[in-house]
Amino acid sequence: MTNPRVSRLRGVALNAPEASASAGFYTEAWGLTQVAAGNGAVYLRGTGPEHHVLSLHDAASRGIRHINFAVQDEVALRALHAHATAKGATVLSAPAPLDQPGGGIGFDMVDPDRRRLRISCAVEQHVDTADAPDRPRKITHLVLNTPQLETMLAFYQDILGFRVSDWSEQQMVFIRCNSDHHSISFNRADHASLNHAAFEMPSVDAEMRGIGRLKSRNCPVRWGVGRHGPGNNVFAYFVEPNGFVVEYTTEVQQIDEQTHEPQVWKRVPHLMDRWGTAGPPSPEMRAAMAGTPDPGVGNK
Ligand SMILES: [Fe+2]
Repeated sequence: MTNPRVSRLRGVALNAPEASASAGFYTEAWGLTQVAAGNGAVYLRGTGPEHHVLSLHDAASRGIRHINFAVQDEVALRALHAHATAKGATVLSAPAPLDQPGGGIGFDMVDPDRRRLRISCAVEQHVDTADAPDRPRKITHLVLNTPQLETMLAFYQDILGFRVSDWSEQQMVFIRCNSDHHSISFNRADHASLNHAAFEMPSVDAEMRGIGRLKSRNCPVRWGVGRHGPGNNVFAYFVEPNGFVVEYTTEVQQIDEQTHEPQVWKRVPHLMDRWGTAGPPSPEMRAAMAGTPDPGVGNK
């Protein structure tokens, strides 16, 4: 019997001192819709079915509050909980109804970089899921900086059931939990932090329209537009009001589980920026992507 697996990335909860005050950026400029608010937090959806893809929480420090993953159903949820517990993972709760907008059943656990992961099923989903011509559908991936890439990779493979899609030399590894080329990527770094969160646009045209909307609001592209090698996705990176890096992306490679062979991509310009339009990220952009050390669990 194969190990239990998470089935998709739902999204991320972020902490920052004035996080909830940045809701206006996300609704007016970024193209999300607010679905709930209260207790110093706001919850935002894309055009896809996920109840919320991003939540912003007022907190003393900046970082990931938790990452939300879905499992198929309650049987899978309980199997994953039992598997993680048996493997010695730090599991913070038993499967139970979640006290959060959208509800659902879930439990929290901790990864080796002390990030809180929330695994859930039966969260309320939206049925009005038509694409908009200039707005994101969902969060399609998170890139996480880590000082222990091999340990993190082993945990996400062995405990959560991720598979390797590709490597960018020994610097980055791209891992998937469904047909999207990557839902998580680890970037070798000095400390654990969020490198960026990527929001999926329905097309290149939608991506360009979104870029135009941000430009008109004095939030220009800070790196891009370009097309990556690993994942083949079109990218444009911005810095949002809390200092986190956010990406519009589209045309993410879809993986055939039966035939895909991971490759090691060389970190050369024509493979990292296939159109040759983006050039390398600026020192300021690299610093924003490095972020500040994430305190992890304990920092509610
Ligand atoms: Fe990305």
